Amino acid sequence: MALSVDELQQYLQSREFRYYESVDSSNDLAAEWLKSGAPSGSVIVADEQRKGRGRLGRIWYTPPNVALALSVITYPDAQAANRMSMLGAISVAELCDAVGIADVGIKWPNDVLIQGKKVCGVLPEAVWEDGKLLGVILGMGVNIRVSFGDELNQTATNIETEAGKKVNRSQLVGILLERVDYWLARLNSDEFLAAWQNRLITLGKSVTATEQNGRQISGIAESVDRDGALLIRTEDGELERVVAGDVTLRREL
Ligand code: BTN
Repeated sequence: MALSVDELQQYLQSREFRYYESVDSSNDLAAEWLKSGAPSGSVIVADEQRKGRGRLGRIWYTPPNVALALSVITYPDAQAANRMSMLGAISVAELCDAVGIADVGIKWPNDVLIQGKKVCGVLPEAVWEDGKLLGVILGMGVNIRVSFGDELNQTATNIETEAGKKVNRSQLVGILLERVDYWLARLNSDEFLAAWQNRLITLGKSVTATEQNGRQISGIAESVDRDGALLIRTEDGELERVVAGDVTLRREL
């Protein structure tokens, strides 16, 4: 069954939200709403998303009735804006905790993994006007009971599979947004950094990072900095800083 305004209202209470049964991308609708002055924390919720955007130019399709696709309107200060991706990952990880899933980790920068499989995607997008940052849309897609093909089955998972029970998607939207609120109020805190870092499964591992421009850096993922960049110690002893991209774990020889 599709989500409904009435049920979402029950869990979102006084929060401003707009619900759509089917959209191209919830991030686009949220960006328009942000430009017309939506309050912080307002959210676009979609049941189906036909042309959702993923990281690094990928497509993220959300089939009807089986997932969450939502975009939260936020107004972080410019220095904190690049922490929104970490915030999304922590919030989804804590949503997984809340439904009783154990061992929920984050693969740098923001993939939430359960037993090595990805359960959600996070895509923050900044909204600019005349060179000024107006705000950031925090887009999150969570797999609840999606049927994956054979190939995706190896790398993706669902909340219901991992929790071993049925869940109420509207209730999950409420829990997720409560976690987003909590961390938005603490974006510059040590607690925030620790919450993200403590979940990172990437640290200490032998990795190859691929930056957006295609440059690859291999070495040991040594640490992260306050902006969420990954610091990789290469074989020749240099410390390389990767701001955005993807990491894959390298097989130990
Ligand atoms: C990823 O590639 O891992 C990120 C995927 C992000 C998908 C979400 S779904 C809601 C929001 N709207 C979009 O168009 N994308 C994000």
